[in-house]
Amino acid sequence: MTDYYWDNKIEYLRNTRGLYYNDDYLEFLVKTVWKLNEPVNVVDFGCGYGYLGLKLLPLLPKGSTYTGIDKGSELINTAREVFLTQTHPSEFILGDIEEITVERKYDIAICHAFLLHMSSPANILQKMMDSVVDDGMVICFEPHWIANMSNYSVHDLEQSQVIPLGNLQKLFENDLKSKGKDGNIGIKIPVYLSQLGLKNVACRVSDKVNFLDQNADPQTNQRLYSSLKEEGIGGNPGDEDIFVRNLMSRGLTEREAQSQYEAELRFSKEFQMDSFLTYAPNMKITFGTVKR
Ligand SMILES: C[S@@+](CC[C@H](N)C(=O)[O-])C[C@H]1O[C@@H](n2cnc3c(N)ncnc32)[C@H](O)[C@@H]1O
Repeated sequence: MTDYYWDNKIEYLRNTRGLYYNDDYLEFLVKTVWKLNEPVNVVDFGCGYGYLGLKLLPLLPKGSTYTGIDKGSELINTAREVFLTQTHPSEFILGDIEEITVERKYDIAICHAFLLHMSSPANILQKMMDSVVDDGMVICFEPHWIANMSNYSVHDLEQSQVIPLGNLQKLFENDLKSKGKDGNIGIKIPVYLSQLGLKNVACRVSDKVNFLDQNADPQTNQRLYSSLKEEGIGGNPGDEDIFVRNLMSRGLTEREAQSQYEAELRFSKEFQMDSFLTYAPNMKITFGTVKR
């Protein structure tokens, strides 16, 4: 095992991706919105273990191929193993996307939950555009954290008691200023891509609303509850002092940091296997066409 952060998050990636889209919605995007009726060569920037490839490849015409690029060697090894059973050809490249030049031209460049980790997303979007043929597509599935945070409901709990949106909004904005990384990137990508010259830019929102339903069968509920916990929903904030100091270093006042701690503690105590909860991750899916 390496000490690269994402190489140690493969189980997290496996257990949480299912929260975002229903399979029929991805099929609708591929077949009805993007009309991918001819074989295509797809490159996935920051592919991880290949989640998006595994979802999209079976929907693409025979003859389509998938190439994944990632910086994590464990992720790339896992992807190579996982894709052995896929019928479509695939290839995985270990590399740092901020450093490498993608030589080959593909039909479609995609990414999923990747640009939020980039401190210069416009440069990476330009690389994605440069990596496709004329009339090729760029498709970005990226988060919009504040929309995500406002899309929880725990039955019998006032949302403001467990998710103070104002504090979170301030934290996300401050983190962008200090670290250059943007958890709300998803909602901004249409503008970035239009400014970079992509044509026919459009944006969709993920369809899935997860419902932890105490009247559903216990196994389904257990699986969903585990995925939600792994995603960090209702996570224990840990040591109070460390938590408060960390949020103060990220720009909250002591009072705001304290109230955030209390809200997260309350959420972690209230959110249990036997809760009723609905949660929509609210990913933004932006796409357009390269015209040279
Ligand atoms: C949140 S994970 C998403 C992985 C995958 N797209 C998915 O949704 O399952 C972010 C991914 O970006 C990759 N990544 C981050 N910075 C990178 C870089 N500079 N070059 C290549 N990959 C990078 C990480 O290794 C990680 O696999």
